[in-house]
Amino acid sequence: MSSFEKVSVIGGGLMGSGIAQVIAESGKNVILVEVDQNRLQQSLKIITNNLHRKMEKGKCTYEHLEKTLERITATVDLNDIYDVDLAIEAIPEKLEIKKKMFAKLDSIINSDAILASNTSGLSIAAIGASTKRPEKVIGLHFFYPAPIMNLVEIIPSIITSSETYKIAKQFVQDINKNGVTCNDYPGFLVNRLLIPMVNEAIYCVMEGAKPEDIDNAMKFGANHRMGPITLADFVGLDVLLATMEGLYEGFSDSKYRPAPLLKKLVESGNLGKKTGQGFYVYNENGEKVQKNFQSAVI
Ligand code: NAI
Repeated sequence: MSSFEKVSVIGGGLMGSGIAQVIAESGKNVILVEVDQNRLQQSLKIITNNLHRKMEKGKCTYEHLEKTLERITATVDLNDIYDVDLAIEAIPEKLEIKKKMFAKLDSIINSDAILASNTSGLSIAAIGASTKRPEKVIGLHFFYPAPIMNLVEIIPSIITSSETYKIAKQFVQDINKNGVTCNDYPGFLVNRLLIPMVNEAIYCVMEGAKPEDIDNAMKFGANHRMGPITLADFVGLDVLLATMEGLYEGFSDSKYRPAPLLKKLVESGNLGKKTGQGFYVYNENGEKVQKNFQSAVI
């Protein structure tokens, strides 16, 4: 089966930089596209730092680091990727922005190439519809941090061809990730299972359970590495709310209704670790600290 030799990643932020690194580490050449030189340099710096950390931990050699970096080309001109076999988009999670990007990619890149999106939950069918090759559009959902997390959700839409799916699946294997196939419905598999569980944990807080008790229950009773309330603070309560709203609207099913306390925390600007306070309080190093006030609710 043909495996991609020329791959591009569009958007070198949190996810795109990691995805480009994973592809280059697997031995493939990758072209990273960003909006300007500044972002491009930031992205390359993230990758270089990741690889140096990996080497310092004894997990790779200097030769591996050097070879990996040599396989990454960087550009701010989308026209430079006209001849890739696969383009993976990792730009912000807004359907209109992604649709515009896919229409552009469709007009620039040779018509045999496969176009993939790293969307966390937008409809692959809707993204594909902005191109003239929806049968060659597929979701490849990596997890953060991409160089560490082994899973990639593979999401064919109802229009994606079985040929595209097979090639994409092979690619995921070639870059040493575990692929799981998901339907093109909100939340795919991981978020659909994980986020409602976290939302339910927030209902438990509303009913009077202590965040610490809920976290310990799932850590020691279900062997989770991190309790759901801590996970909520780490993911960001705004991201969590947006995901629940996506499930609620996408399935038109009341079982996905976001917990009112989650909405209140987002409205009050307490978004979790990134704002220093969510269900727990964090210092500037991101460490959990004792609350210095007593909330009437949590
Ligand atoms: P980010 O904001 O860190 O990075 C997005 C990058 O795209 C930015 O560096 C921006 O300059 C660049 N960009 C924007 N427009 C562009 C254009 N026209 N051409 C080239 N580059 C452009 O966002 P992040 O977190 O990396 O998310 C990207 C995608 O990955 C989203 O769809 C998100 O839902 C998804 N995702 C995010 C995860 C996370 O944990 N942050 C996990 C899995 C998926």
